[in-house]
Amino acid sequence: MASFDKNKIEGLKDDLKLVDVYVDEYLRDESGHTTLRSVLSTISATGGKKVRPLVLLLSGRLGPKWPACRDRLCKMGAAVELIHTASLIHDDIVDDSPMRRRKRTVQSKFGKEMAVYAGDFVLSRIVYYLFKEASIEAGMLLAKTVESMCCGEIGQYAGSYDTEAPIKDYLSNIFGKTASLFVAACAIGAMESGCDKKTSMILRQVGEHIGYLFQLRDDLLNVTSSTSSEGKPVHSDFINGIYTMPILHALHHPGGGRLRELLHTIGPGAEVSYNIEEIEKEVEDILNSSRGIEFTRETIRAHARQAEELLETLPKGPVPQGFLEILELLSAGS
Ligand code: IPE
Ligand code: IPE
Ligand code: MG
Repeated sequence: MASFDKNKIEGLKDDLKLVDVYVDEYLRDESGHTTLRSVLSTISATGGKKVRPLVLLLSGRLGPKWPACRDRLCKMGAAVELIHTASLIHDDIVDDSPMRRRKRTVQSKFGKEMAVYAGDFVLSRIVYYLFKEASIEAGMLLAKTVESMCCGEIGQYAGSYDTEAPIKDYLSNIFGKTASLFVAACAIGAMESGCDKKTSMILRQVGEHIGYLFQLRDDLLNVTSSTSSEGKPVHSDFINGIYTMPILHALHHPGGGRLRELLHTIGPGAEVSYNIEEIEKEVEDILNSSRGIEFTRETIRAHARQAEELLETLPKGPVPQGFLEILELLSAGS
């Protein structure tokens, strides 16, 4: 994704810098343990796009408490970013991923055990700082969000290799694993800045649409991109039994029978020997002819459109404009 131009909104770049300062503070090592220190410096040095703090900070500019609430928004932005980071550290263990953000993952550099501890360590630091800030409401919301993220991952794992999985299960999994944190980020921005109920509801819904399209786009890229994306090999989702929207849509449409056969061929316990490149090529052809890819693109555009319509109901200004630009960047090429 091309990056969002933070300079277009006054002070936003500085807010994001302050988020980084709090991320580093929250990750500070107090144990003097050398290994822990190296792990934590790997985590803080591997900066991602920070889309979640960005939507939180934007939402936090719409309430009457802005700009007095600025510091708290940056602290909450850091907490949200670190929940995301912890989820990626654990996700990389499950996926056995060697790379993330074009750098080695914690699990490949320090081992899976250390990555389990590191993810837990980060989550416990978030709990500590939320208590320290007496952020009861945000804390409760984030705890529920982590629960949703776990349920999304559990649902995805439980349904892996299931070629009969309904699309509604996939949607509920991606709501849990990804959209729920975007909803929470927008809700916390609204809450901390004192937005009225209506604005708060609009922001939550915008966050939900952004979350869905964000994951749908990641899933689409895994089947369409010609090179590996951020260290994740192309086609790794379906090869590992994670059937996302393009595959699920194709499975439920003409050509689905042959696709099912191909997925079973490379699935667990497969007895026939096969050439993976040939299978990947045939799967791609089916996804194109059965409109699995096109349907995913249409779904992404539909989420972007619905979010735009919601943003149009807000008074005009730099915040809705900023959200519109994020939507444009995220749905570009879809
Ligand atoms: C990656 O999220 C995981 C998904 C939900 C697809 P991001 O693309 O936001 O990851 P970073 O933080 O920028 O690396
Ligand atoms: C990452 O999800 C973990 C969460 C969203 C909680 P994915 O497995 O879909 O994302 P990548 O592709 O590894 O970044
Ligand atoms: Mg993954």
